[in-house]
Amino acid sequence: MGNLYGKLMHCKQLLDGHLFEGFLRKVRRWTMAEEQNVEQFKGQARLPKFAAPKRYDLFLKPDLASCTFSGSVRIALDVVGHTRFLVLNAADLAVNEGSVWFRSSSSSEEIRPAEIVAVEGDEILIIRFDRLLPRGEGVLGIGFQGTLNDKMKGFYRSTYEHKGEKKNMAVTQFEPVDARRCFPCWDEPVCKATFKITLEVPSELVALSNMPVVEEKPDGPSRIVSFEESPIMSTYLVAIVVGLFDYVEASTSDGTKVRVYCQVGKSSQGKFALDVAVKTLDLYKKYFAVPYPLPKLDMVAIPDFAAGAMENYGLVTYREKALLFDDRHSAASNKQQVAIVVAHELAHQWFGNLVTMEWWTHLWLNEGFATWVSYLAADSLFPEWNVWTQFLDETTTGFRLDALAESHPIEVDINHASEIDEIFDAISYKKGASVIRMLQSYLGAECFQKALASYIKKFAYSNAKTEDLWTVLEKESGEPVKKLMHSWTKQKGYPVLSVRVRDGNLEFEQTQFLSSGSSGVGQWIVPITLCCCSYKSQEKFLLETKSDKMNLTKLCDSFDSGKGGKFWIKVNVNQTGFYRVNYDDELASKLQYAIESHQLTATDRFGVLDDSFALSMACKQTLSSLLSLMAAYKEESEYTLLSHIITTSYKVVDVVADAAPELVDDIKTFFISLLQYPAEKLGWDPKDGESHLDAMLRGEILTALAEFGHDITINEAVKRFHAFMEDRDTSFLPPDTRKAAYVALMKTVNNSNKVGYESLLRIYRETDLSQEKARILSALASSPDPSVVLEALNFLLSSEVRNQDAVYGLAGISREGRDIAWMWLKENWEHISKTCGSGFLITRFISSIVSPFSSDEKGDEIENFFATRSKPSISRTLKQSIERVRVNAKWVKSIQSETSLGEVVEELAYRVY
Ligand code: BES
Ligand code: ZN
Repeated sequence: MGNLYGKLMHCKQLLDGHLFEGFLRKVRRWTMAEEQNVEQFKGQARLPKFAAPKRYDLFLKPDLASCTFSGSVRIALDVVGHTRFLVLNAADLAVNEGSVWFRSSSSSEEIRPAEIVAVEGDEILIIRFDRLLPRGEGVLGIGFQGTLNDKMKGFYRSTYEHKGEKKNMAVTQFEPVDARRCFPCWDEPVCKATFKITLEVPSELVALSNMPVVEEKPDGPSRIVSFEESPIMSTYLVAIVVGLFDYVEASTSDGTKVRVYCQVGKSSQGKFALDVAVKTLDLYKKYFAVPYPLPKLDMVAIPDFAAGAMENYGLVTYREKALLFDDRHSAASNKQQVAIVVAHELAHQWFGNLVTMEWWTHLWLNEGFATWVSYLAADSLFPEWNVWTQFLDETTTGFRLDALAESHPIEVDINHASEIDEIFDAISYKKGASVIRMLQSYLGAECFQKALASYIKKFAYSNAKTEDLWTVLEKESGEPVKKLMHSWTKQKGYPVLSVRVRDGNLEFEQTQFLSSGSSGVGQWIVPITLCCCSYKSQEKFLLETKSDKMNLTKLCDSFDSGKGGKFWIKVNVNQTGFYRVNYDDELASKLQYAIESHQLTATDRFGVLDDSFALSMACKQTLSSLLSLMAAYKEESEYTLLSHIITTSYKVVDVVADAAPELVDDIKTFFISLLQYPAEKLGWDPKDGESHLDAMLRGEILTALAEFGHDITINEAVKRFHAFMEDRDTSFLPPDTRKAAYVALMKTVNNSNKVGYESLLRIYRETDLSQEKARILSALASSPDPSVVLEALNFLLSSEVRNQDAVYGLAGISREGRDIAWMWLKENWEHISKTCGSGFLITRFISSIVSPFSSDEKGDEIENFFATRSKPSISRTLKQSIERVRVNAKWVKSIQSETSLGEVVEELAYRVY
C-alpha cells in the first residue's frame, strides 16, 4: 500500500493540481483504513469502497401475526482494500452481535468482529475486526431481526380483508434507500450483486420475489420457498411479497410468463393491465433491441403503497388504483393511467434495472426516460388516445416547477440519503422526459432509437452516468450532444425566447424564465424550430448565443412587412422544445388569428395558450391579453386543449378572486361559455362507440361546470346522484361522470344540510374499488362551507382512510376551505409528520395546502410556522411552496393595477354569450 501511496505522491509532484490534493486525501483514507477508527466513516454521503458485494444469500422469515421478521444474510464480497473494517448499510434492524462472522476464501478460519457499531443517523453498520482482512474473496454472515412496519417502506405490512377478516401481508419497498431496513447490505445503486432469496412463510400464503421459485418444502405449518438466483442487480430493486392473492396469467410472444396478482376475487380486474404488459414487453424488446432479461414478470396490487408503482426487477408492485381496471366502475381516465403506469414500470426493466444510474444524481435517467418511453408505448398501443398531445401536460408541470428560483438542475447533487426522496419530482420526471423529447426530435427518431439500443447493450448489467448516454448519442448522430445537453441538465431553469420582427428580420433573444418575473442568469443552447404560415415551411437552428436573427423575406414568401399581411410565425413547432416564447404584439395577434382560422396543430395551440398563461403569471403580459387569447379557443374540441383551458381557468378564477373579487362572476360566465359547445355535444350519457378522449373530456367539462357554479349542471348532477343512490344503476352515473357529480353535490352541501356529504361517505364505505374511493376523497373537501371542509379533512386522518390516500382529498380543497385547511395543517402537524413523515407523502400536505395562498403576509406566516419544523426531507418542497405564494402575491398586485381588466372581462362574458 505504501507503494501505491508513494507512486501517487510522485504523480502529485508532476501534476501538482489542487484537485489532486483532494483525490489524494481520499486515497489515503481508503488505503490507510487499517490505521483509523470508526469515526472516519460517519457523516459520509457514500459508503467506503474497500469491499464490494458480489452475491447475497438472503433468508427471511416474516411473522404476520406479530409483525416482525427475522433473517440472515451471507454476502460474498470482494475485499479490494487493506482494511480492518467492513462498512455497510443497515437501519432499524437488530443485529445479533454473536451472529456476525467473516470468512476469507484464502483461509477456512472464521474471523469474529472485535466491535460492531450501528450509526443511526448515517444508517450504517461499522464492523471492526482486530486484524486486516485478507484481500480477495470472502463471505460476511449476519443474523438480524426487524419489524414489519406501517410506514410503507423497507419490509412493511399492508392490510386487507379476506372473508370479513382483517389480514396482514408483508411487502417490500426499497427505492430509494430502504433495502437497508430489511437486511444489512451495500445499499447503493452502483453496488450490483446477485440475490439468492429464501423465505419461510405460512403454508397457505403466496410468496413472490424477483425470480421464479426453484423449490418449495413444507416445514410444519410453514413452507420454505427458495427462488432462483437473480442476475446482478441493485439492492433497491429487490422485492418480496407474502400474502393471499389471486392472479391472471398470459405469455409474451417469446414465452415470458406474465402474471397480475390482486386480492382474492378481483382477478378479472387485472386483465387490462396484463394485456398492456404483454404487448409492451414485446414492443420494448424491439425498441431496445434486447429481450426482457428475466424468466418471468409478476405485477402485484398492494393495498397500502406510498408511490404509484415500483419497478422491482421481475416483481413490479402497484397501488391498486394504478393496476386494476373494473369494466363497470372504472373511468376512461383510470384506464389510461393504468396503461401509462404499466408502460412506465416496464420501461424501467431496461432503463433502470438492466442499466442503472451510477448514483442518485442521475435519477432522472431512470425516471425521465421511463416517463418518455411510457408515452411511446401508449402511443403505439392506443394511437387514438393522442398521448403525445397529452404529454404536454407533463411538460407544463415541469415548466411550472422549473420556473421557481428554488428549482434544481436535472443532475442534482445528493449529499445525504434523506435528500433523495424529494428529487422524485417534476424536474426528474417531467422536465427529464421533456428534454429527452426535445433531443429526440432534434436528432431524429431513428438515430435516437439506434443510440439507445447501443447504450443499453453497452451498459447492460452495469451502471451509467448522464454523460455516458450523451457519449453514445454523440457518436451515433455526429451532433454536439454533450455541449447541447449540458446546458439543460446541469443548470436549473429554462429560457423564454423573445421574438420580434424588426426591419425584415426575425429577432430572437433568450433570457431565463422565472415565474417571479425576475430575469435569471441562465443561458442555453436552444434547438429552435419555427414555421411560417404553414407547416410546410419549417426552419431549424441552434441558438448558441443570447440573441440571433434571421431574414424573414427569405424564410417566408408571404411576409411583407410593409403590408403586414396575414402571415403568422409559430416558434417551437409542436412544442418539442423545452422553452417558452414571448412574441411581440404583432406576431401575437397574427398567431391568434391562426388559431381562430384553425391553422395550428393541437400541440401548437396548447403551447401558445400555456406560454401566454405563464407570461401573465410572471407579470410579463396582462391578464386581459391572456383572456382575449382564450376567447380564440371558443371552437376548441380537442381533449388536451379543453382540459388545459379548464386548468388554466381554475387558476385564473382563483387569482381574480383575490385580486378583483367583483369580476369573478363575469369571469366564470366567460369560462362557462368556452365550455358550452363541447358540454352540449357530450351531454351526461356516453354515446355508442364514442372515443376514449370524449369519455375523458365529458368528466372534466362537467366537473369544471360544477366548479364554476353552473346551475343546470349542478341540478342535473344532483338529480342523477339521487337516482344512483336509490338503486346503484350505473347508467344514471357512468364512471366518467361520477367525479363531476360528486363535486357538484358537494357544492350544495353546507353545515346545515350534510345529506350529500353523508351519502358520499356511504358509497366510500361500501365500495372496495380503490378508484371509486379516490374519486370520492377528491370531491369530499370541495364544499364552499369551511366547516364541512374541516370535517372532510379530519376524515382523511381517520382510520377509514389509508395513509396513502389522504393526498386525493388534499387535491380537492375548495377555495373557501383554504384558511381552515391551513389551520388544520398547523394543528395536526405533529400527528401528520409522525404518520406520513418518513416519505414523500408528507410533501403533498405542504404543497397542496400552502401553494394556493397569494399574499406576502401569508408567505411570512407559513415561513414562521415552519422555521422550527423544517427538515431535510421537506425543505425543498417547503421553499418551493412558499415561493409560489410570493409569485401569486405579485400576480395579484399586478392584476390590481390593470385598469381596463373590468371592461375586457365584461366584454368577453357578454360577447360569447
Ligand atoms: N421508481 C418509481 C417509484 C418510486 C417513486 C420509488 C418515488 C421511490 C420514490 C416508479 O417507477 C415511478 O416512477 N412510479 C410513478 C408512476 C409513474 C407512472 C409516473 C409513481 O409512483 O407515481
Ligand atoms: Zn419510474
